[in-house]
Amino acid sequence: AIDIKTLRGTSGIVTIDPGYKNTGSCESAITFLDGEKGILRYRGYSIEELAEKADFLEVAYLLIFGELPNKEQLAAFHLDIKNESHVDEEMKKILDGFPKSAHPMGVLSSLTSALVAFNPGSVDVASSDAMYNSIVRILAKFPVLVAWAMRKKMGLPLDYGDDSLGYVENIHKMMFKRPNQEYKRNRVVIDALDKLLILHADHEQNCSTSTVRIVGSSHAGLFASLSAGISALWGPLHGGANQAVLEMLEAIEADGGDTKKYMAKAKDKSDSFRLMGFGHRVYKNFDPRAKIIKKAADEVLGDLGINDPILDIAKGLEKEALEDEYFVKRKLYPNVDFYSGIIYRSLGIPTDMFTVMFALGRLPGWIAQWREMRLRNEPIGRPRQIYVGENYRPFVGVDKR
Ligand code: ACO
Repeated sequence: AIDIKTLRGTSGIVTIDPGYKNTGSCESAITFLDGEKGILRYRGYSIEELAEKADFLEVAYLLIFGELPNKEQLAAFHLDIKNESHVDEEMKKILDGFPKSAHPMGVLSSLTSALVAFNPGSVDVASSDAMYNSIVRILAKFPVLVAWAMRKKMGLPLDYGDDSLGYVENIHKMMFKRPNQEYKRNRVVIDALDKLLILHADHEQNCSTSTVRIVGSSHAGLFASLSAGISALWGPLHGGANQAVLEMLEAIEADGGDTKKYMAKAKDKSDSFRLMGFGHRVYKNFDPRAKIIKKAADEVLGDLGINDPILDIAKGLEKEALEDEYFVKRKLYPNVDFYSGIIYRSLGIPTDMFTVMFALGRLPGWIAQWREMRLRNEPIGRPRQIYVGENYRPFVGVDKR
C-alpha cells in the first residue's frame, strides 16, 4: 500500500513515507530483489544457484567486488584474509568486562567498534589499497569475535583460527573446538553453515544495511558503520527474529504443541503477539531463501539423524498459515528466519547466537554496500521531517513553572 504524504515544511516540500516503504535511498548494482515474483539475485546470479554451487567466500568476493573470482583471485583473497586473522590480545580485556549473561549481539557490536582503536588505519579509505585492507581485515577478524562471543558464554578458552582450513570450516572450528579434544570435520555441518551464510549474505536496503550506509555516509569508517549495522540487525523485527522464532516454537511445544492457539493469538488485534518468522516488507509472494532453508533443514536434520519436534511444529504452523485467510490476505509467508534457527539448533549453536550467525552471513553484504556508497561518493544521509511540536514559547524560569 502506498502511504506517502507530501507536506509543506518550513523550507519547502517534504515527502513523508513512514518506514520508507516506497522510498529509494540509492542506486545499487549489488542485489536484485523482486518481492512479487520471489526473485533474489546477487550481482545477477540467482540465490538458488549460488546456494547450490558456490561457497561463502566466493559469494563474499562476488558481492564486494562485483565478479566471481577465478581460482587465483580467490586464493589470493583468502591468503590476505588469513594474514589478518589475529585480533589484538588487548581486545580480550574488553570482552572480559562483559558479564557472561550479556547478549552476544551487544558484545559483537561493541567489539567491532572497539576494533577501530586497534586498527586506526581502517578509518582512512581514501585509496583503493586502504579500502581493500580494511575489508580484508574485518572479514578476517569478525569471525574471531563471533567465536569469542560464543566461547565466553560457554566458558571456553578464547582461541584463534587454523590457517589450513577453508573460511567457513575455520569459523566452525574456532566456535566449537574443545580444549584437549581433536576437532572433527563434519562435511554436512560445514556445508549447511556455508549455505546459511550465503542465503543471508545480502538483501539490498533493509534496516541494518541502510544503517551501515547512512553511518558510513558521514565517513565514520567501515568498522564503526558495521557496528551500527549489527545493532540494527539485533531487533526482533529484523535479524533478531531467528532467535524469536525458536523461542516461540519452544514455547508452543512447552504449551502442548497447540499451533491453532498461537495462530489465533497472532490474528487477534488486541494481542501484540506476531507469528515470528512470518511476513516480509518486500516479499509478498514467498521468500526464496525460506524455500531453500526449509529443504536444507530437512536434509541436515536427516543427515545428522536428529528428530526434532520443533521442526514438526514449524511445518504445522506454515501449513495452517498458508490456508488461513488472515495470512493469505496480508501475503504473510515464512521468511528466511523461520527455518534457519532449526538448522542452527541442530548444529549445536546456542539460541542467542542465532542473530550473530546472521550478522556473520550479512557481513559481505554490508561491506559491499558500504564500499559502493563510498565509491559512488554518495552525500551524507540526512532525511527531513515535518515539525509538529509547539510553536514559539517564551522561556519560563524553573521557580515560575
Ligand atoms: N504475524 C501476524 N500478523 C502480522 C505479521 C506476523 N508475523 N506480520 C505482519 N502482520 C500483519 C500486521 O499486523 C498488519 O496487519 P493489519 O494490516 O491488519 O494492520 C499487516 O500484517 C502488515 O504488517 P506490517 O507490520 O505493516 O508490515 P511491515 O512490512 O511493516 O512489516 C515485518 C514486515 C516487520 C517483517 C512483519 O511482517 C513482522 O513483524 N514479522 C514478524 C517478525 C519477523 O519475522 N521479522 C523478520 C523479517 S525478515 C528479516 O529481517 C531478515
